[in-house]
Amino acid sequence: MEIQLWRELLNPYELAVNELTLKFRHLIKEHKENGLYSPIEQVSGRVKTISSILEKMQKKKIIFEDIEDKIEDIAGIRIICQFVEDIFKVVELINNRGDMEVKVVKDYLNNIKESGYRSYHIIIFYNVQTIRGPKKIQVEIQIRTLAMDFWATIEHSLQYKYKKNMPEHIKQRLSSAASAVLLLDNEMSSVRSEIMDAQNSFQI
Ligand code: GTP
Ligand code: MG
Repeated sequence: MEIQLWRELLNPYELAVNELTLKFRHLIKEHKENGLYSPIEQVSGRVKTISSILEKMQKKKIIFEDIEDKIEDIAGIRIICQFVEDIFKVVELINNRGDMEVKVVKDYLNNIKESGYRSYHIIIFYNVQTIRGPKKIQVEIQIRTLAMDFWATIEHSLQYKYKKNMPEHIKQRLSSAASAVLLLDNEMSSVRSEIMDAQNSFQI
């Protein structure tokens, strides 16, 4: 396919990623300016590369006309939180916004993937303005803790290294590393709630 057609296809997704990254980063700022703890620690975004769109089209037998409908993660936003509880605060925040319409949620916190992957995904519909008028596109928002991100980043780069043929014993070690990350997240939450309880009892 011609590069110009790809540019036209991807342009609105780029705009959406830029706008959404800015909006979520502003939320961090707004919390801080109000002296509040921000449930969002970091935000990043990316537009899927043409080569990985092509790869996905081939893998899932998607034709060009169906790309925008069937590939939900052309625009991707990643929100990193300190604690698991923050993830649900971010979900609520997204639910209450007028500019993001939730299409579907994928809860890999309660339904941990076989690999050990944990995260909360939300696919939203988001409106951008183009020279041809408004356009509603899909964006995948991945919400996870710093610890989950640490695991997913390394696991992803190893997957890439092994070109999807990861040896079974490596898979097993990554899976037990994921269990360690789960324990770590729980321990951090418990430390936090102990501190919060102590603070509350001082206030009484
Ligand atoms: P793709 O996995 O993107 O082909 O689509 P899907 O429809 O299967 O969606 P899924 O919700 O399974 O995955 C969406 C995204 O979550 C992926 O593109 C990854 O960024 C992330 N993800 C899902 N599973 C894993 C995993 O086992 N390891 C890592 N590191 N990331 C994962
Ligand atoms: Mg997948």
